[in-house]
Amino acid sequence: MKLFVATHNQHKIREISQILPGFEIVPDDPEGVEENAPDFAGNALIKVRAIAEKHKGEWCMADDSGLEVKALGGAPGVHSARYAGEPTNTPANNALLLKNLEGVEDRAARFTCCCALVDPSGEELVVHGHCPGHIAEKAAGVEGFGYDPLFIPNGYDKSFAELSADEKNAISHRGRALEKVKAILGGGSAGDGSRVERVEGRGGSRVLSWLKLFRVVNLPTVPGDVLVGAALWPCFAGCSLRILPVLLASLAGVFLYMFGLVDNDIVGAKTDKDRPIPDGEISFLAVRIARFVCLAAAMVVASLAKLPGLWWPAAFSLVVSVILYNRTKWSMAMGVCRGLNLLCGVLAANTVFSMDAALLAGPVALAAGIWTLYITLVTWYSKGEENDPEKKRRVGALVGGIVYLQLTALLVLSLMFPQVAAMRPLLIAGAVMLIVGGPGGT
Ligand code: IMP
Repeated sequence: MKLFVATHNQHKIREISQILPGFEIVPDDPEGVEENAPDFAGNALIKVRAIAEKHKGEWCMADDSGLEVKALGGAPGVHSARYAGEPTNTPANNALLLKNLEGVEDRAARFTCCCALVDPSGEELVVHGHCPGHIAEKAAGVEGFGYDPLFIPNGYDKSFAELSADEKNAISHRGRALEKVKAILGGGSAGDGSRVERVEGRGGSRVLSWLKLFRVVNLPTVPGDVLVGAALWPCFAGCSLRILPVLLASLAGVFLYMFGLVDNDIVGAKTDKDRPIPDGEISFLAVRIARFVCLAAAMVVASLAKLPGLWWPAAFSLVVSVILYNRTKWSMAMGVCRGLNLLCGVLAANTVFSMDAALLAGPVALAAGIWTLYITLVTWYSKGEENDPEKKRRVGALVGGIVYLQLTALLVLSLMFPQVAAMRPLLIAGAVMLIVGGPGGT
């Protein structure tokens, strides 16, 4: 497929060709256009519109990119190419940047790349990619171009100019934006199942970034595990359900899950695409603090709820499984996490141990086993979903299915055993939430 690209920069053409190997990249310099927009998206659109005029019915693309340094209030930003004045002079730009950062301790910076596309019908689409890092004290390396010798990406101790082209493309702002472009050209979507971002602000709001970090659509599936486990105890131990500790145990379960989500994004910070940490929307320090806070919050809630002693080893095993899953990506480890979440519910509801309680082992093993298996299979099936919007949609339905399974289990238990009647209001609330909001996606 042909892709007209509005640039004459040979470095960019080479990087674009490397990242989009299946496309015939046709450079077309939009001579004479003035890039006077206040942001990258505006400039990219100015350039792509200029060439789309000439290539009607074809895919056209322009990118605008630059370096944003926190201590300089986002400069050089859209003025990156001509930071030290006209015409573009890379050594002078780099020297000026180092001079302006003399004695500055916080050298945090990020590269941003915005790609604007015009599709064959004339529709305009805009995507962004970011690469966070910091500015070195002195230049190093000979690869790449522009500010590469001064920019050290997060998680590395080498500058962009010391990385190979493949290494840079895998994490660079342009690489990340072009991955989105690739998904658009390949399937008409940005690879996340949604229609492409329209001209959007830089990075979206902070709140949205945190919501994205905590994958809020998945969180509602977590308390259900604990509630199903908790419902099993009174059924077989012959006592009534203590609803408050169980609700608090659900909350602790949610915090443990949030701990796992943050840990997962920290582990994948170098390789993940389109996530708040690699996109530079949330700093490493902030997520490390958040990871600690989530774990601490789970422990505080569990202590306040005075959860029975056996809850703690189960919760500890859950944390170990989460850490194992994040580092190995074994589907089974994720399945075990959710099985243990259910077990935490069983143990949270444990008030008195009677002989009847021994009967609990069978149903608990069965429920935890089914949970573990279902989640293991969904996790295994979901591998590679980020590049396959159709698969992503199916996985979303399977994740949503967790809530239906939980509600069905609770309904059956509450109908069979009067001891769990206290759960009925929760069931009604859950059913209403499902009807109003539908199940969570991925
Ligand atoms: P433009 O996107 O052609 O306007 O380029 C903006 C400027 O940002 C370039 O001239 C470089 O100075 C800088 N820049 C953009 N991307 C990179 C990169 O990957 N490495 C180094 N400098 C870059």
